[in-house]
Amino acid sequence: MKKAILFFLLMLPTFAFAAGPSVPLMKANVDVNDKASLQSGAKTFVNYCMGCHSLEFVRYQRLATDLEIPEDIVKATLINGDKKIGDTMTIPMQKKESAVWFGVAPPDLTLTARSRGADWLYTYLMTFYVDNSRVVGVNNLVFKDVGMPHILWELQGWQTPVYKTVTDSDGKTHQVIERLQADPNVSEAQQAEYRRTVRDLVNFMAYAAEPARLQRESLGWKVMLFLALFFVVAYALKKEYWRDVH
Ligand code: HEC
Repeated sequence: MKKAILFFLLMLPTFAFAAGPSVPLMKANVDVNDKASLQSGAKTFVNYCMGCHSLEFVRYQRLATDLEIPEDIVKATLINGDKKIGDTMTIPMQKKESAVWFGVAPPDLTLTARSRGADWLYTYLMTFYVDNSRVVGVNNLVFKDVGMPHILWELQGWQTPVYKTVTDSDGKTHQVIERLQADPNVSEAQQAEYRRTVRDLVNFMAYAAEPARLQRESLGWKVMLFLALFFVVAYALKKEYWRDVH
């Protein structure tokens, strides 16, 4: 038994390595205090993602408060159908039906930014590429054989893979993707715009995964400020006391 545990511990770094991404992740640089970015992300999410994905644990009302969007604007721009401001961001699509359409049901995305990490999400949305062997016509660098179509293709265009040949330790050669080639029909300015849109979207998803972070971070500043003031007072007191001693 002890040996088995020791073996497991020794192997741990190998397992961790095996589970790690083979592609270096791009940096999302999220900032959940950037309200304009969160607002833009919320809009993109509602317009492009909510056809298939819900945010079951997010209420529109909370969104209005946290993102500082007036409730009537939330109602007019972010709420579809007969939903109310007090409702959660669920969708009418049934899990069973969608599983038939896509082979796999689109999961709820409330906690994805936490389970996958913001950088993974950003890289995921940046690295869809044309793969005609797939039913959805695309593949993804961090989600092999993904069942989701490239929803944001209108904004990013179609990236194509550029391959290189590598030789493994057994002397066998095979083709691996070296990088993705941007769509030549999409300008550099549009590409930059796409990166901003995706960053805002990921920022919004990071907020959705942990709305309490907004409060915690602002509380953190207050605590720091209090400690700084307290230090000044304590230092002044110490000086005062020691004056008599010297
Ligand atoms: C047409 C339906 C559809 C739309 C619209 C859509 N997705 Fe998906 N999405 C899917 C399906 C299906 C899967 C499951 C893929 C799989 O498991 O192979 C998925 C999976 C995902 C995953 C992986 C979740 C995980 O942890 O495994 C993320 C992240 C995601 N989608 C984000 C988005 C975002 C962000 C948008 C909006 C820009 C979006 N999706 C729009 C169908 C959709």
